[in-house]
Amino acid sequence: MIPDEGHIPVLPQEVIAVLQPESGGHFLDATVGLGGHSELLLQTPHIQLTAIDRDAQALALAQQRLQGYAVTWWQGNYADFPGGEFDGILADLGVSSLHLDTPARGFSFRHAGPLDMRMDQGQGTTAATLVNQAGELDLVALLSRYGEVPFARRIARRIVQNRPFTDTLTLAETIRQAVPPAARYGRIHPATQVFQALRIAVNEELTSLERFLARAPAWLKPGGRLVVISFHSLEDRIVKWAFRRDERLEILTPKPITPTAEERQQNPRSRSAKLRAARRW
Ligand SMILES: C[S@@+](CC[C@H](N)C(=O)[O-])C[C@H]1O[C@@H](n2cnc3c(N)ncnc32)[C@H](O)[C@@H]1O
Repeated sequence: MIPDEGHIPVLPQEVIAVLQPESGGHFLDATVGLGGHSELLLQTPHIQLTAIDRDAQALALAQQRLQGYAVTWWQGNYADFPGGEFDGILADLGVSSLHLDTPARGFSFRHAGPLDMRMDQGQGTTAATLVNQAGELDLVALLSRYGEVPFARRIARRIVQNRPFTDTLTLAETIRQAVPPAARYGRIHPATQVFQALRIAVNEELTSLERFLARAPAWLKPGGRLVVISFHSLEDRIVKWAFRRDERLEILTPKPITPTAEERQQNPRSRSAKLRAARRW
C-alpha cells in the first residue's frame, strides 16, 4: 500500500511561523518524505527549495507531489549533504507513513513483511542482519540504548535462542512470549520499543542526527533558522544539547513547541512531536 498524497505534515503552522519563508529565500528540507512541509513552503512565491531524503521511494513520491515546482533534489543521508547557503533548514525526523504503512519495508510489527527497516534500500545492513548476527550482549545494549526496552535481557536471550528470523510477525510474537505474562497483552505491544530500537540502529539515526546538527549551522546565512521536529526523547535530547552547545546558534524555543490537542486528535502521528528552533547569529 502506498500512502495517499494527502499525508498531513506535523506542526504545519508552527514550522512556517518559525521559518518565515519570503520570496527569493532558499530553504532546505532535509527530510522531504512525502513532501508535506515542502509543499507548504512552496506556497510562498519565488522560493528556492532543496529537498533531501535518503529513501529513493520517498523522493520519487515527493517529486510526483511537487511536480511543477522548481526543486533541487538530493538523495542521501542529510549528514553527508555537501552544504549550501540557506535562509532556513527543516528536519522532520524519523520514519514516514510510507515506511510504516508499506509492509514490504518491514518497519511495522503489525503487518507481515521481511525484517528490513532500511530507509535507504541501497545500504547493506538490514534488521535481519542485526537480529540474526549480533551477539546477545550487543542486542541487550542496542535494545536498552535505542529503545529503553523493558526486559531487554529476556528478549535478547529469546531472540538468540530462536533465530534466524526473516519476518516481522514471527519476531514480534517471539518478543511477546519473552516478556512476563502481565506485559504481553497491554495497551502497548511489547515489540513497539524493540522495533524502534532496531530501526534506529539499522539506519544509524542518532549518529546521523548528531553529525547533521554539527554541520547544518554552517549552511545557514546570518539570521537563518534551523528547525528540528523529533519524535522521542533520545532524539529530542540530542537536539536540545546540540543547540545549547553551539555558539553559532541563538535558541528560539526555550521549551519545545508541541502540537495542540486538536492536531493530536486529527493526526495521531503528531502526538509525540517536539519542535525546537534556533537562529544563526
Ligand atoms: C517524518 S518523514 C518526513 C515527512 C515530511 N516532512 C512530510 O511532510 O511529508 C522523515 C523522512 O526523513 C527521511 N530521513 C530520515 N533520516 C534521514 C537522514 N539521516 N537523511 C535523509 N533523510 C532521512 C526518511 O526517509 C523519511 O522519508
